[in-house]
Amino acid sequence: MQRLLLVIVSMSASVALSIGAWAMSDQPPAADDHAQIEFLARHWQTPIPPQGKPPAHFSSIEGSLDPESCGVCHRAQYEDWSGSLHSKSMGSGVVGQTMELIHDNPKMALLCYSCHAPLTEQQEKVVKKKGGTPSRVKKRHRPSASPPDALEDGGGGELTFKTNHAFSASLQAKGLSCAGCHVRGHQRFGPPKRDGSIENSAPAMQLPHGGAIRTAAFEQAEFCKGCHQFEPSGYALNGKLLENTYNEWKEGSYAREGKSCQSCHMPERRHQWRGVHDPEMVKQGVSVRLALDKEHYRVGEQLRAEITLANIGVGHNFPTYVTPKIVVRWELIGGDGKRVNESVQEERIGREVTLDLTQELFDTRIAPGKSRTIRYVRAIDRTGLTLRASVVVVPDDFYIQFFEATAPKAKGKEARALLEQAAREGRARSFPLFTENVVVS
Ligand code: HEC
Ligand code: HEC
Ligand code: HEC
Ligand code: HEC
Ligand code: HEC
Repeated sequence: MQRLLLVIVSMSASVALSIGAWAMSDQPPAADDHAQIEFLARHWQTPIPPQGKPPAHFSSIEGSLDPESCGVCHRAQYEDWSGSLHSKSMGSGVVGQTMELIHDNPKMALLCYSCHAPLTEQQEKVVKKKGGTPSRVKKRHRPSASPPDALEDGGGGELTFKTNHAFSASLQAKGLSCAGCHVRGHQRFGPPKRDGSIENSAPAMQLPHGGAIRTAAFEQAEFCKGCHQFEPSGYALNGKLLENTYNEWKEGSYAREGKSCQSCHMPERRHQWRGVHDPEMVKQGVSVRLALDKEHYRVGEQLRAEITLANIGVGHNFPTYVTPKIVVRWELIGGDGKRVNESVQEERIGREVTLDLTQELFDTRIAPGKSRTIRYVRAIDRTGLTLRASVVVVPDDFYIQFFEATAPKAKGKEARALLEQAAREGRARSFPLFTENVVVS
């Protein structure tokens, strides 16, 4: 358990752990680039500083950080978010690991939380200085060349931790909730109104939660960057960062055309964040074409077929992470309905790394605008054969293998059960992208 656990941690080692507070009285940023960068740096401190007591004039529903409370007035966003993966970011696979980490290696657990449950109120422990007062923790930089094992002694380090009295277990279970993106010091932050204006519709005191501070930073790809892109010094394999979505986007044509992450993942400001787990989303971004060199084959002839997958609408590599795999599968079925011996051929598209993340085995991901062709050649030895070609998306391929390997080694029964459940759930999320049966002889 220990070894595998630590290496997955190394995926995210570039995330900074820093603590600091910023005053609610700060001026709202103007809508220029520099101010937006400053806004984002302040907005995405990790962990997000404690919200403190709500203003005295707030009703209990206005003072609540629970997504259900926001949902009373913001129904549409709540319903979308509830079905999204952001609301499930503290699922069994994550909790199965953090529940032991928070005791054995709190620094690592807090690192996981910085993306999976970023509010201080979602974290059992907080950092304190040796002397006992909360302190600012130095940004952590890890040279990309050092092997993942270098982290093993970095676990506790110079930091000590204390119980967080503001911790809420129910809020932790909600994962990346509304407040994680929108609330700082009980003040709401959001994008400009749809007409571009940033003013509240009435004096702040007359509006629920005192209205909102609006900034165009919410409409930019950089808003998503902190959790979906490693820093340059982060963990890399074969010269490529393990998480590089923002850079892939930035180098492609979508960034030049001004198509942000939000334009594809939050169309009409919807809060669904559909991605590789969503069949419709993948179909929008990828085309699949099957071609055979002939319509009909005589016995003794060679069948030549190919499948071409084209990235026609994914804003980054398809897929962007090491976790999903796309399986292209071929087989021949005889007239009796049975599979012909040795006719099966399978090829995996994606970036395959070993479970300990020390080696990249292959990288066949498809960059924006590019395509990849996979060929199948077989001698036809009888009549009545059908070619079956399929493309299956396995969104959680890496994690399925990882959980299958780690579950038996978990110390506690509860952690083991959660990891086994995570592997099962992962397998159930695979779906076909394309299936075609062609009579060939
Ligand atoms: C009692 C009802 C109510 C509750 C509860 C509530 N809001 Fe609001 N919220 C509003 C109203 C009304 C506005 C529009 C204010 C205006 O017109 O300027 C608003 C505005 C916003 C905005 C600015 C964008 C926009 O639509 O104008 C954001 C972001 C926001 N709320 C987030 C939240 C979050 C997050 C929560 C929960 C932590 C929450 N709200 C709880 C009523 C509510
Ligand atoms: C991952 C971060 C994230 C989370 C979680 C999140 N939002 Fe948002 N929200 C955004 C972004 C980004 C925008 C602006 C999108 C755009 O401009 O395309 C936005 C826009 C909004 C708006 C303005 C909508 C409009 O039509 O103008 C409201 C209101 C809002 N969010 C409420 C919520 C509520 C309520 C929740 C929880 C149920 C929530 N958000 C969860 C990031 C988030
Ligand atoms: C605070 C960290 C954080 C921020 C900010 C954030 N995300 Fe995420 N996002 C996550 C985590 C963690 C997951 C994985 C959830 C899980 O499956 O456990 C995720 C999952 C996703 C997925 C689903 C991927 C899939 O596998 O299907 C998409 C799409 C996505 N995020 C897009 C965005 C976009 C667009 C933004 C900016 C508007 C954004 N995220 C902002 C942390 C974040
Ligand atoms: C830099 C942000 C970041 C950090 C830090 C981070 N993750 Fe994630 N995590 C993500 C994103 C984004 C995804 C979704 C994409 C993917 O599947 O790779 C994800 C997916 C996962 C998943 C699979 C989805 C699920 O809900 O089962 C697990 C498990 C996971 N992370 C565990 C961890 C653990 C444990 C840690 C700490 C050791 C950690 N993560 C740290 C961003 C992060
Ligand atoms: C032009 C549309 C488009 C843009 C722009 C875009 N995406 Fe995607 N994204 C997709 C599609 C389509 C998928 C589903 C196919 C896939 O998984 O690659 C996807 C998948 C994902 C996933 C699922 C994980 C995976 O391995 O594929 C994440 C996370 C994600 N996008 C985040 C982002 C972030 C962050 C940005 C901005 C830096 C962004 N996307 C920009 C269209 C887009």
